[in-house]
Amino acid sequence: MEFQEVVRRRRMVRNYDPSRPVPDAVVDRLLANALRAPSAGFSQGWAFLVLSTPEERDRFWAATVPESDEADSWLRDMRNAPLLIVPLSHKQAYLDRYAEPDKGWTDRDESRWPAPYWDIDTGMASLLILLDAVDQGLGACFFGIQPDRIERFRSEFGVPADHHPIGAISIGHPAPDRRSPSLRRGRRGAEDVVHRGQW
Ligand SMILES: Cc1cc2nc3c(=O)[nH]c(=O)nc-3n(C[C@H](O)[C@H](O)[C@H](O)COP(=O)(O)O)c2cc1C
Repeated sequence: MEFQEVVRRRRMVRNYDPSRPVPDAVVDRLLANALRAPSAGFSQGWAFLVLSTPEERDRFWAATVPESDEADSWLRDMRNAPLLIVPLSHKQAYLDRYAEPDKGWTDRDESRWPAPYWDIDTGMASLLILLDAVDQGLGACFFGIQPDRIERFRSEFGVPADHHPIGAISIGHPAPDRRSPSLRRGRRGAEDVVHRGQW
């Protein structure tokens, strides 16, 4: 697919055809593309938890969604996704990488960082997954994990304490879904957000 078409077609898909799994080769390509993302100092302080069996996905939803939200139709549809990829950022990998001689931040002081590059880079890798999903004829949605559920998620899947799930990505063959009410806000135009030469 032409790049402009991939960008134009990408939208968060919140319902999937549960009868159509995502082939292993497709999953492998999504992950291979994620690993092509840029990263500060080439730190690559990211990891990806792939959940593709019904049992694995059930454990994800049970760990991350409070029972009070289970009747939610949004969640019912999202649970149809045959594939979940949880991108995790690893801050310590950045602090260690930048303590190396060519960078020299041996104090590992976080205040040196203008922005949390560990989360940014993992987000860039996530965007590559979202775009490649479109290119491979699939739909995907990046969504958050509630902060008070992160510990439970970690212990359910044996995730090390220094790896932080920045969210989760559902992936599959799109089925009819309800568009997000947030879209009523409308897309902000260049005249509103782009400042050329001077703010
Ligand atoms: C960091 C981030 C977190 C998001 N969290 C959620 C979420 O928890 N649930 C959800 O349904 N959509 C979530 N979204 C999707 C946004 O609602 C969506 O990107 C936005 O409304 C624009 O729609 P579009 O991506 O379909 O163009 C998230 C998107 C981003 C980038």
